[in-house]
Amino acid sequence: MIIREMKISDYNEIYRLWQITSKRALSKADEKIQMERYLDHNAGMSQVAVIDGKIVGTVLAGHDGRRGFIHHMAVMPEYRRRGIGRALAQKAIEKIRAEGIDKTHIFCYKNNETGQSFWSNFGFSRRNDVYVYSFENSDI
Ligand SMILES: CC(C)(COP(=O)(O)OP(=O)(O)OC[C@H]1O[C@@H](n2cnc3c(N)ncnc32)[C@H](O)[C@@H]1OP(=O)(O)O)[C@@H](O)C(=O)NCCC(=O)NCCS
Repeated sequence: MIIREMKISDYNEIYRLWQITSKRALSKADEKIQMERYLDHNAGMSQVAVIDGKIVGTVLAGHDGRRGFIHHMAVMPEYRRRGIGRALAQKAIEKIRAEGIDKTHIFCYKNNETGQSFWSNFGFSRRNDVYVYSFENSDI
């Protein structure tokens, strides 16, 4: 298994992977043009795990200048529980840290028990003091 930087040329393959692993989390923000902007904006930070030339895991890593954010942490079902997710998360956090950012946030659905176990095991602390509020910018 190798972990390498995600490139926009990976888009079709990673989008197919997300349709298997992360369907509920997909939105307009994951269209190719937005992903290209994200990867440019956070150059070299997002990663893929590759086995035998096939992408089996992804992680999007970025920051807004103050805090780091990880999205689309995903591993293909048949490759889970062998440390690929952990290796991807570790690389993502190393990249965020190298940008001088000292804290990383993730979003996890409340009923995603696998996600919660994974992040807890990694050492993330669950916040009970914060709600996420979202706004449709077209509503203004
Ligand atoms: C979450 C996910 C990325 C984990 O990938 P993975 O490669 O299986 O993770 P790892 O093998 O590195 O697991 C590391 C540790 O996380 C915990 N963990 C991972 N999957 C778990 C599960 N299904 N149940 C309980 N604990 C789990 C374990 O402590 C595990 O260590 P162990 O295998 O030694 O017990 C993968 O399950 C996935 O793609 N899920 C669907 C997408 C998703 O929900 N992503 C998270 C969004 S918040």
